[in-house]
Amino acid sequence: MSEIRRVGVVGCGLMGSGIAEVCARSGLDVLVSEVAPEALRAGQDRLTTSLAKGVARGKLSAEERDAALSRLRFTTDLGEFADRELVIEAIAENEQVKSEVFATLDKTVTSREAILASNTSSIPIARLGTATSRPDHVIGIHFFNPVPVLNLVELVPSLLTSELTATRAARFATQTLGKEVITAKDQAGFVVNALLIPYLLAAIRMVESGVASTEDVDAGMVLGCAHPMGPLRLADLIGLDTTKAIAESMHAEFKQLAYATPPLLSRMVDAGLLGRKVGRGFYDYSG
Ligand code: CAA
Repeated sequence: MSEIRRVGVVGCGLMGSGIAEVCARSGLDVLVSEVAPEALRAGQDRLTTSLAKGVARGKLSAEERDAALSRLRFTTDLGEFADRELVIEAIAENEQVKSEVFATLDKTVTSREAILASNTSSIPIARLGTATSRPDHVIGIHFFNPVPVLNLVELVPSLLTSELTATRAARFATQTLGKEVITAKDQAGFVVNALLIPYLLAAIRMVESGVASTEDVDAGMVLGCAHPMGPLRLADLIGLDTTKAIAESMHAEFKQLAYATPPLLSRMVDAGLLGRKVGRGFYDYSG
């Protein structure tokens, strides 16, 4: 089994930049793509800031930061991914756009051994696999935000993923990146979001119906259950657009009310109040 050294990351948003960071910190050659130069610059800034935070917190030295930065390259052209041995797609939760990316990667990535992975939390891996001519090499590798801090990776083989692909992906996540792996079936939400999203939606409904304030709902779970952050602050961290997109995929899959988007969440997304990444969601981060 050949070791994976050349990684591509498609998308440099919250998740993509975090995935690129942990890959570069693990000594890999990392190529990151975004659709436009501005998005690429924003992603690059996020990554640099996170590495600086890692240094400030004593998690890595200044030399290790510089070495990680030297292993990262950025592009707006997926055509440059030809020599990648593993590509992790981490763009927005939109099935059509993701499928187009997988179809492009299928044509671009030359090695037939290469793994094409998605960081999706809710879109069926089988559908992304069938957008390619190599669904046996397509798998879900789902990270958690903030990626440099949280140790979990969900591994999601589809009905078409080969055992070799699953074994190589697991080895990459555990041995190369030092993450802990759990394996889940290819159904919307996998393990973590199937439990987390109904909880976040219930918290939003609580605020919507006036049971308690945003601050009190969060304080309830932080102080009463020792969660590191309350559900509304966590929804802001994930991004309210992402939270809504995951909920919609899960609702489409299971048709259960627990996954139905509360009107308050829809209106906040309509209004552009997407959470921490834009400076305002349930909380104001502009100060
Ligand atoms: N690199 C390395 N380590 C870093 C770092 C970086 N860039 N940034 C922070 N850290 C480390 C810190 O050093 C600290 O470690 P120690 O405890 O060992 O000192 C730790 O991370 C916490 O950092 P901070 O003190 O800066 O922050 P905090 O204590 O306020 O915690 C938090 C912030 C990590 C976000 C914490 O609140 C938390 O874990 N919240 C829950 C997050 C969560 O549930 N995420 C899952 C979202 S769901 C998802 O992602 C999947 C999906 O599909 C939606």
